[in-house]
Amino acid sequence: MASPDIRKIYIETYGCQMNLADTELLLGLLKPQGYEPTHDASQADVILLNTCAIREHAEERVLGRLGVLVRHKARNPRVLLGLAGCMAQHHREKLLEQAPFLDFVVGPDAYRTLPALLTQEENDAPFVSVRLDREETYADITPVRGEGVRAWVTAMRGCDRFCTFCIVPYVRGRERSVPLAALLAQVRELAAHGYKEIVYLGQTVNAYHDGTADFADLLRQTAAIEGIERIRFTSPHPADMSERIIEAMATFPKIAPYLHLPLQSASNRVLQRMERGYTIEHYAALVERLRAALPDLALSTDIIVGFPGEDEADFRATYDFMAQVRYDSAFMFKYSPRQGTKAYKWGETVSEEEKGRRLQEIIALQERISREINRRLIGQTVEVLVEGPAKRQPGWLAGKSRQFKTVVFPGGQVQPGDLIQVQVRDATAHTLIGEARSPMPV
Ligand code: SAH
Ligand code: SF4
Ligand code: F3S
Repeated sequence: MASPDIRKIYIETYGCQMNLADTELLLGLLKPQGYEPTHDASQADVILLNTCAIREHAEERVLGRLGVLVRHKARNPRVLLGLAGCMAQHHREKLLEQAPFLDFVVGPDAYRTLPALLTQEENDAPFVSVRLDREETYADITPVRGEGVRAWVTAMRGCDRFCTFCIVPYVRGRERSVPLAALLAQVRELAAHGYKEIVYLGQTVNAYHDGTADFADLLRQTAAIEGIERIRFTSPHPADMSERIIEAMATFPKIAPYLHLPLQSASNRVLQRMERGYTIEHYAALVERLRAALPDLALSTDIIVGFPGEDEADFRATYDFMAQVRYDSAFMFKYSPRQGTKAYKWGETVSEEEKGRRLQEIIALQERISREINRRLIGQTVEVLVEGPAKRQPGWLAGKSRQFKTVVFPGGQVQPGDLIQVQVRDATAHTLIGEARSPMPV
């Protein structure tokens, strides 16, 4: 029997890595109150969905899950069921109309209020805690992280860019950075606990600035921390990609030659209406500078099709640009209108069918390019940071190459956290299949 002081919390996380990191933060905030995570909702005292609002589909999924999870309340009325994250912030009180059984709705800047509110004796009325806070960075909170070789570290929160399609600035508030000293202390602690890879997070992570240090400083000082073998970050904004950052990436081998550089569209007309803050010429020149400085750089991107006003010529420009740049991989989305954003008022000009057609076209293009790029690695040897068992092949291990490609290989005497050399034997669009060159870690 669990001690009566221990309360179990079950969390499902939706959306981006920032939400995954926030789930670890929530566990860190709740730990001193005696909360422990559980993977079994039927054992939980508190059930929480950490939600995403980026596209309509993300919100529909959460409403569907709530309909299922509410059954746990029928079984035990003392179970608390609530929403955290971006969708909570987006809809606030309105969520209680759609889901009157919710006990709490808490936004990304109000997580400190959660422990106190959960332990209130009289918890009859649902509470909604959604105040945005320009200062909140949770710098003093130690997240409860999962096992593994990789740790996500939130470097900055919020976003000031207000791209016209995007809900993030409204639900995550203004941009603010965690002080450099707090980040470095966290990373040293992580290194001491055996984590090998650090992923700095932020919606425009390369805009990081704590008043004194910028993102290049953060990268350089992180690279000096012993025990950390790899450093990555996501997502950099193309307009914030300074020469100092490129130089830091080129200087320190620990900084992975991998960049997720969201494009959205290659049509200047569309980019302008999206208010992305760059032209396609600026973006293409940036890719050229990056590739000159980092010859083995792997690039990925985000694309939106069917943004209001996107015509066939605009779409062609995106298709052609993707064919020309040859990204290693891409996340591709149909435009989804988000209430409260500027573009929402423009309605939709591209039909669902047409959005689907455009999406399928670039997906097919990207699959072909990804496969070609990966297959060119056949015969080469790549350095792999071993993560654990492969998902599909029993007895095999999986890890990531320096370019952040998934590599699977038959297991030997290697452990998660080892850096080994793997010879690539075969490749698909998404995976490299190899063989450890020596059973010994390098
Ligand atoms: N901060 C990152 C992106 C965060 S959201 C950046 O600036 O690039 C992740 C991706 O979701 C975006 O890059 C975009 O491609 C997609 N996205 C955001 N809002 C969307 C919307 N309303 N409809 C469809 N896709 C959207
Ligand atoms: Fe959204 Fe643009 Fe901010 Fe990215 S930079 S989070 S797309 S507003
Ligand atoms: Fe979604 Fe919020 Fe991330 S809207 S993509 S979870 S910042």
